[in-house]
Amino acid sequence: MELYLDTANLEEIKEIASWGVLAGLTTNPSLLAKEKIPVAVFMREAENYVTGPLSLEVLGETADSMIEDARHLKKYGDNVVIKLPLTEEGLKALKVLSAEGFQTNLTLIFSANQALLAAKAGATYVSPFVGRVDDIGAEGKALVEEIKLIFQQYQLKTKIIAASIRSARDVTDAAVAGADIATIPYGIFKKMVAHPLTDVGLEKFKADWAKSGIQGL
Ligand code: G3P
Repeated sequence: MELYLDTANLEEIKEIASWGVLAGLTTNPSLLAKEKIPVAVFMREAENYVTGPLSLEVLGETADSMIEDARHLKKYGDNVVIKLPLTEEGLKALKVLSAEGFQTNLTLIFSANQALLAAKAGATYVSPFVGRVDDIGAEGKALVEEIKLIFQQYQLKTKIIAASIRSARDVTDAAVAGADIATIPYGIFKKMVAHPLTDVGLEKFKADWAKSGIQGL
């Protein structure tokens, strides 16, 4: 499973990219709005750290306006993936954009049927929102498993991005369920690194070495 960062914060991108684990990036209008950063400025900086797929979302509500947004966003880089909402207008836009060779990420997916429709219309990626499914008392993990099973059964090439990740456990669950990618917020990346036994072990190594009196390696 590949790991993407879900953010529009440039400092977060810089730090996680320095770990050597980052295969791509996803943003959405809420994340960009939070940073109050124009997309052009964001892209100029982000492209220094992310060479893999970088999802930018359209704002238009009709297929035509989504297509217009997509053509504009694509100018920011060859690695730009166009994020479209899974609506009827989003599907119409997807049909046109996939025929033109755009990479697409169908977002706000909350059911296996939505994922199936996206795959049939040529989506490169689908993004089931596991955390928001959990929020309404259903099981986000089960949704990823179901989509995976359907895509495997019918040899659909669309990749699954587990999105709306809220905990380190969600990342493990996405990997076990067979997601191709998990897009993870910065704070969850930090939690994935941390383990109390790692800290305890490191302290013991340091203390034992200090007691030994040996100088240098
Ligand atoms: O990748 C989608 C994500 O940004 C939404 O996450 O936590 O707002 O449901 P959340």
